[in-house]
Amino acid sequence: MAYENIRLEKDGGIAVLTIDRPKALNALNSKTFHEMDAALKTLGDDTRALIVTGGGDKAFVAGADIAEMVTITAAQAREFSALGHHVFQTLESLPIVTIAAVNGFALGGGCELAMACDLIYASEKAKLGLPEVTLGVIPGFGGTQRLTRLVGRSRAKELLFTADRIDAARAKEIGLVLDVVPADKLMEHCRTVAGKILKNGPLAVSQAKRVVEFGADQDLRAANELERQGFAVLFGSEDQREGMKAFLEKRPAQFTGK
Ligand code: CAA
Repeated sequence: MAYENIRLEKDGGIAVLTIDRPKALNALNSKTFHEMDAALKTLGDDTRALIVTGGGDKAFVAGADIAEMVTITAAQAREFSALGHHVFQTLESLPIVTIAAVNGFALGGGCELAMACDLIYASEKAKLGLPEVTLGVIPGFGGTQRLTRLVGRSRAKELLFTADRIDAARAKEIGLVLDVVPADKLMEHCRTVAGKILKNGPLAVSQAKRVVEFGADQDLRAANELERQGFAVLFGSEDQREGMKAFLEKRPAQFTGK
């Protein structure tokens, strides 16, 4: 399928989704969201990891498209927010691992996009933040909630209230990004992490993601029950037999995802 504002490339189990509107620093408009939604639906069983990044050399994503939002009504804003939430929720719920390669500005909706991914790595030149209050609004694609869960209430409030644009090193310090990598090594780093994950049992990785995601917002007893169920379910898989037999036979496991 031909897209205007994004690119989706697949190579050996790893897909790369590039938000590609460099003239507007990859700002997210409705069309881009619809294209992202369509692209995520095309990911089949052959894709086991997704890297999300920004086109051009300046931005990951500089936010929701301000030109599209400037004159919209409250009802339209609700719809736009619902669209963003839907796409980011779809991304977050994928059964595969998602990695944000933050290659430049990740502001507002861009920072929210990164936070909807499982793992966030940033280039040394990345700048992150939630500047919505400078525009007289608040984040509308889950930023207030995902940021709070990632960095804690106090830091989240500080970033939300001040609209500070922080560099990658500071973002790592507060737990917003995992690691900071030289700009020209960022994609290679993300591919290496993805490659490491691809060697592991796909059902197990997917179950680990599911249990963390669903458990994180529950009390410990309920969350641990989810873990028990996830653990048990995997014993119905060929991959569990293969993984454990391979260990005992001192050979690498050949996982099939069954
Ligand atoms: N929406 C629409 N267009 C944007 C944009 C955005 N979020 N960010 C940048 N652009 C456009 C600029 O308007 C400019 O277009 P023109 O060349 O046609 O004038 C082009 O991209 C290049 O941007 P700048 O000239 O501003 O580039 P710069 O290097 O001087 O500054 C920047 C870079 C600091 C990222 C600056 O562009 C900026 O502050 N962008 C807006 C960041 C922001 O406020 N994001 C939050 C958006 S609101 C949101 O995301 C709400 C939500 O959660 C739903």
